[in-house]
Amino acid sequence: MSYENPGLPDVAVEDLLLYRLGGGFYRTYLATTGLTADERVLEFGCGGGTMSRHILARLGGDGRLTCVDISAFWMEKAMKRLSGDSRATFICGDITTTPLPDDEYDVIFIHIVLHDVPAADRKAIATALASHLAPGGRICIREPINRNHGMPPSEIRALMQAAGLVEVEGTAAASSSILFGHLFSGEFRRP
Ligand SMILES: C[S@@+](CC[C@H](N)C(=O)[O-])C[C@H]1O[C@@H](n2cnc3c(N)ncnc32)[C@H](O)[C@@H]1O
Repeated sequence: MSYENPGLPDVAVEDLLLYRLGGGFYRTYLATTGLTADERVLEFGCGGGTMSRHILARLGGDGRLTCVDISAFWMEKAMKRLSGDSRATFICGDITTTPLPDDEYDVIFIHIVLHDVPAADRKAIATALASHLAPGGRICIREPINRNHGMPPSEIRALMQAAGLVEVEGTAAASSSILFGHLFSGEFRRP
């Protein structure tokens, strides 16, 4: 069993604590990212579409959101929840092999995804994501940093730097949540 092929407890927690009751956790974070209404957004690892829903709430009519997830189960759930929204596109696949346009996206979100990916795969993912950023575009990342379940901010910074991105001054922040423990967030821009 894994999050990609979840059991009943994972499905219930996601639905109740994140999708139904977790709005504040997402809205508060998104407000810090400066996401604007007309941006072209890629969400890596959209899961059941909870973050996607809150991204769409901030986008206007000209904004676009592409959601990618490797899990057919979560992608189907995200599509059921959000497919009425013509600004959103859903692609089921591995982010490193999904054909997405280069130099395209203003913002790429990595929200509570990378720490669960095997460490050996993270560099290829960061490099693939950076190639999809428009010049001047940015990756906004938030990940748990707990010792027992998370990844250190130093690793996030090293991955982003190796992908050719530059940390945006003043964006690094620490927060915490009952569900995820201690979190790091930050933004990394393509020069
Ligand atoms: C915990 S969920 C995050 C959900 C969403 N970002 C949110 O915050 O509401 C992480 C998701 O990343 C997906 N994922 C993991 N590795 C992936 C990969 N290589 N390509 C695409 N999706 C991936 C998993 O299937 C899972 O649904």
